[in-house]
Amino acid sequence: MEEKIQALMTEIESADLSTPALAEAFRNRFVARKGVINELFDQLKSVPNEDKRKVGALLNQLKNRASEIAEAALSSQAGAKDNDRPGDITLPGDPWQKGGRHPLALVQRLITDTFRRMGYSLAEGPEIEDDWHNFTALNFEENHPAREMQDTFFIDENNLLRTHCTSVQVRVMEKHKPPLRVIAPGRVYRNEAVSARAHCFFHQIDGFCVDKDISFADLKQTLETFTQTLFGQDAKIRLRPSYFPFTEISAEMDVSCRICKGAGCAVCKHSGWVEIMGCGMIDPNVLKNCGMDPEIYSGFAFGMGVERIAQLLYRVPDLRLYSQNDVRFLEQFRGFVNY
Ligand code: DAH
Repeated sequence: MEEKIQALMTEIESADLSTPALAEAFRNRFVARKGVINELFDQLKSVPNEDKRKVGALLNQLKNRASEIAEAALSSQAGAKDNDRPGDITLPGDPWQKGGRHPLALVQRLITDTFRRMGYSLAEGPEIEDDWHNFTALNFEENHPAREMQDTFFIDENNLLRTHCTSVQVRVMEKHKPPLRVIAPGRVYRNEAVSARAHCFFHQIDGFCVDKDISFADLKQTLETFTQTLFGQDAKIRLRPSYFPFTEISAEMDVSCRICKGAGCAVCKHSGWVEIMGCGMIDPNVLKNCGMDPEIYSGFAFGMGVERIAQLLYRVPDLRLYSQNDVRFLEQFRGFVNY
């Protein structure tokens, strides 16, 4: 018995385990339940009592060593299978998650590009603005109630967070001579409680055109072309009289509701129309404040909210969604016009 054990010990120490098949065969022969080592355990009964202890210990040693060797061979071969595989180079690669633009960036691009195709150039101004460019030059008189139309975040007596992009009109007109056709996108701020319908910051696109003989008819034609390019040829516009300090005459422009197509819904409050911008003929005082002669030049201007238009295009029900950075919202815009 002892000799048999010794012989098996030599056999397992020198066994060839270089392939998975050989390792498997080794395990079956030595470690498996019906392997030779367990057979020897069965024969332990016939070993004389005084030798049992010694033979038993030897057998245990043999058994442990055999399973050690089998396990090491099998696990190193399994590891090699994963790591050394050359890889199937015809398999498709791991998919790359492509990013997307923020819906407001998409809509801002859509709007400015529409005007660019009509010959407008792009201008930007500072978000921290002074009283002159945000109010005074735009014909908001000191202490005039019109200043309260917009709840302003003041920084100090003379500086504030701009309440509208109309301030860029003043900056451009002060520097450049007509003919001017300019579109000014940007972020604006108002001291309002945040809700589904109002926010303390939002985005506007302001535009204007100044030249000789510019009339209200030019304004109407421009806005109609813009609206139909953005919302489709069946979109209708409606101009209603309004008031802004920097335009005379002033109007508000509605578009036929894009959600219900005029049938009446919650977005248009069952009127069939949705207001999307303010507009008008630039007040002669504003032209004068910017160094232009209103006897020679006239112009029109308009301003709209980007969030509102994005709401109509993409049916966004709550303004707060734009700034919460919730990927479930943002992911829906992945793959939209992306340029
Ligand atoms: N600045 C206005 C606002 O924030 C919008 C506006 C109205 C802009 C008429 C204009 C305009 O340029 O002509 O509510």
